[in-house]
Amino acid sequence: MKLFADTADIGAISALADLGLIDGVTTNPSLVMKSGRGFKEVLKEICGVVDGPVSAEVAATDFEQIMKEAAVLADIAPNICIKLPLTLEGLKACRALSREGCKTNVTLCFSASQALLAAKAGATYVSPFVGRLDDINQDGLELIRDIRTVFDNYPAIETEILAASLRTVNHVSEVARIGSDAATIPPDTILKLVEHPLTKKGLETFLDDWAKTGQKII
Ligand code: G3P
Repeated sequence: MKLFADTADIGAISALADLGLIDGVTTNPSLVMKSGRGFKEVLKEICGVVDGPVSAEVAATDFEQIMKEAAVLADIAPNICIKLPLTLEGLKACRALSREGCKTNVTLCFSASQALLAAKAGATYVSPFVGRLDDINQDGLELIRDIRTVFDNYPAIETEILAASLRTVNHVSEVARIGSDAATIPPDTILKLVEHPLTKKGLETFLDDWAKTGQKII
């Protein structure tokens, strides 16, 4: 499963890239606002730090303006992936951009029927939001299962499921168990993936016992 960092924080992205743990980055208008940075400036920086796809979301809602914004964003770097809302205008733009060979990420997906339309529009990725469904007492993971089932019924579908709005380590392991192609995860949650108390305890024991041997490897 590809792991993307869901952030516009260049420091967090750089640290994760140094660890070799991320395959790309996703941003959205809220994450850009949180970063306090200029959108195009921070995107340029992010694209210089990671080789994989960097999702940059349009702000326009009508086809003509979306296409104009997409052209500006795509020009920032070769690994820019244009993020589009799952609306009729967004899907129309997705189809046009996909036909131009532009990577696309259709976002704010909350149903299998929406995901099917994103696939029909030739989306590179579709982003079903798990956490926001959980927030309203619906089963966000069930959405990923549904979309996986639907897409697997049609081998011609090349759109990748990019599980999004992931809030916990369990979300990440569960979408991997389901077979999501990718997951976009907040940096703090990515770092929690490595943690287990028995790993920590076991390493402490190994190091204590090694010290008792009085030996050194170097
Ligand atoms: O960036 C898309 C998605 O991951 C946002 O998640 O936490 O705002 O629901 P969240």
